[in-house]
Amino acid sequence: MGRLDHCYNIADLREVARKRLPKGVFEYLDLGTEDMVSLENNRRVIKEIKLLNKVLVDVSKIDTSADILGARAALPFAIAPTGIAGLTWHEGELELAKAAAKAGVPFTLATGSNTAMEKIAEVGGRRWFQPLYVAREAALL
Ligand SMILES: Cc1cc2nc3c(=O)[nH]c(=O)nc-3n(C[C@H](O)[C@H](O)[C@H](O)COP(=O)(O)O)c2cc1C
Repeated sequence: MGRLDHCYNIADLREVARKRLPKGVFEYLDLGTEDMVSLENNRRVIKEIKLLNKVLVDVSKIDTSADILGARAALPFAIAPTGIAGLTWHEGELELAKAAAKAGVPFTLATGSNTAMEKIAEVGGRRWFQPLYVAREAALL
């Protein structure tokens, strides 16, 4: 049984990542940017979401699929682009793309990916690519 089998929520996963990853890589994932205003705001509003449980409802046949940008996905979300995912796990982008294809949701490859897009393309499934960052000064890229 791996350590991930003992993770029951995001806080547990965060702790495993904190112990496993080099400090800088962990902080790239864990922290926000600048004054971290968005990070604090996101955490606050997510905490305010409450799930309403329903009882005595027939769940033998459920449909979680949804239309996303003109095509059906098995779940109402997609994997957002996260640059250098390969730093946190060997061929991390490839694993994310495989998981997304298996789950029937779109996978978005980041411009800052460290896995070749040709390799991701082989996985199949619905693949997106994030808009390229465009900067006037090449030195900023
Ligand atoms: C570690 C990390 C890396 C990210 N890298 C990128 C990136 O390379 N390109 C991009 O467009 N967005 C990037 N994002 C932003 C995410 O794609 C996404 O828009 C953001 O996390 C908000 O989505 P959420 O509300 O589902 O978390 C990154 C986010 C995180 C946390």
